[in-house]
Amino acid sequence: MQTDFLVIGSGIAGLTYALKVSQQCPDKKITVITKSREDETNTKYAQGGVAVVNDLENDSFEKHIEDTLIAGDGLCNPRIVEIVVTEGPERVNEIIEWGANFDKTANGDFSLGREGGHSVFRVIHHKDITGKEIERALLEAIHQRPNIELVTHCFVIDLITQHHLGYLVTKSTPDIECYGVYVLNRKTNEIEKILSKVTLLATGGNGQVYRSTTNPTIATGDGVAMVYRAKGRIENMEFIQFHPTALYQPGVSPSFLITEAVRGDGGILRNIHGEDFMHKYDPRLSLAPRDIVARAMDSEMKITGTEFVYLDCRHMDIEKFIHHFPNIYETCKAAGIDVQHQMIPVAPAAHYSCGGIKTNEWGLTSIRNLYACGECASTGLHGANRLASNSLLEAMVFAHRCFMDATSKIDTIPFRDNVPDWDARGTTAPKEMILITQSLKELQQIMSDYVGIVRTDVRLQRAIRRLDILHEETESLYEKTEVSPQLCQLRNMITVGYLIVKGAAFRKESRGLHFNTDYPFKCELLQNIVL
Ligand code: FAD
Ligand code: SIN
Repeated sequence: MQTDFLVIGSGIAGLTYALKVSQQCPDKKITVITKSREDETNTKYAQGGVAVVNDLENDSFEKHIEDTLIAGDGLCNPRIVEIVVTEGPERVNEIIEWGANFDKTANGDFSLGREGGHSVFRVIHHKDITGKEIERALLEAIHQRPNIELVTHCFVIDLITQHHLGYLVTKSTPDIECYGVYVLNRKTNEIEKILSKVTLLATGGNGQVYRSTTNPTIATGDGVAMVYRAKGRIENMEFIQFHPTALYQPGVSPSFLITEAVRGDGGILRNIHGEDFMHKYDPRLSLAPRDIVARAMDSEMKITGTEFVYLDCRHMDIEKFIHHFPNIYETCKAAGIDVQHQMIPVAPAAHYSCGGIKTNEWGLTSIRNLYACGECASTGLHGANRLASNSLLEAMVFAHRCFMDATSKIDTIPFRDNVPDWDARGTTAPKEMILITQSLKELQQIMSDYVGIVRTDVRLQRAIRRLDILHEETESLYEKTEVSPQLCQLRNMITVGYLIVKGAAFRKESRGLHFNTDYPFKCELLQNIVL
């Protein structure tokens, strides 16, 4: 199969880009691929909303830029921060034109939420299910477009580059090019080759690498792993954001999020003795940036010997709570928690990957004709810690930038010929799928035990040794076994785990989301770590 624009991922990043391309190039073919159902994405689970400047009486671009830079702890690219913040309002207007609804106040202004690290109320939202609303609107718009084909249950295994034509490709090969992808069509169980002129990776995050995460099962870092295998550049993987307030429900995966906007509206963190502890850690209390709050909780849990703290909403106006957070109210109720009278047990959970595939300011990766945007990309916006609700905004802004660059080049790019079909010689059907499940559990355990919120050199060395064994076993299985999504995802997650540990081991300092007790201070010389 051949397609002009290939899009991998049906979250906010992939769909926004596809819609824009389809509008501009009605005569071109656009193919959007997703490995699961069309709406099964991190996007669908977004709660708090989109951080964007619109209330010019109380807010300004300068304030949003400053909040983003402070959260990023010295590693944001100021030029990218300015781009995202200033281009954001226009992109939000477009998504509204495509049909996404955001809550309004009685006088017609946006109802604004506040989250950690924001100096003002600036987060537009749709109740506490903003992502679901955005995903709905985008998918409805996509289905109206005759030149977009949306293919579900189709797993992308690898990018096609010169390597597949028999050339030696290394990290120092100057012009690595992407010609398309090999996919496992889960409906036919065949491995197919899709050739493209331009490819966009919008494959989302990697929270599933950890035992406890807010991310759905699709979040396995496939895009990052594919680019790393293709010898492209990956950056700052050590900056994994743990969301402070995931509902504590042992055995339930993924963890249900209690949006930070609940703290923005007055929710207070308390330890198991009922003590409000945040004043010991930061003057911004429960609304300090996430890295600080998650570490404070980690410290309190260690002191009290528990696996959770509480989020206290009992003093909040229950009518208002139910109006703004109906999904949280109902989910807590179903879990036996009456928010009006009981505190909500919460614990940090892996939530967001700040690093990823390194891109330039047009979303272009280090591989020619390959773009990346959304959570899988590292654009320079987030630095060492993402400001809450900046990621949906970043995805929209960079989808637009990828679209601008890709459409300006498309007519100069030919399809590559002589690309071989997938070679499955020497592989047989898997004998024991359970080995894959067991290895996945081991990986999640290693990452949670040794590469979590607080790190040490000894823990990182342990993680590397254990990952080496898992890597060796999985590669050997991969060489002999017919590919399956489970095996490919395991392989990708081991690669991603390795990149997180490697980045963490290189970073001999503590900054933003990376905290190593052996190097508790910032080292001004250390900047982005590119692997
Ligand atoms: P996703 O929406 O995750 O989409 C990834 C797509 O790639 C999926 O379609 C998937 O199937 C596909 N894919 C992946 N690998 C393959 C493969 N190998 N083959 C084929 N397809 C593949 N951010 C905010 O700004 N505000 C919020 O309020 C907010 N709340 C959040 C709440 C939760 C619970 C979570 C988990 C995240 C939240 N975030 C929030 C973060 C934000 O939702 C994500 O960063 C963003 O939605 C990512 O969008 P994306 O398009 O990059 O990826
Ligand atoms: C939340 O609603 O707390 C999540 C927001 C985000 O991750 O940006």
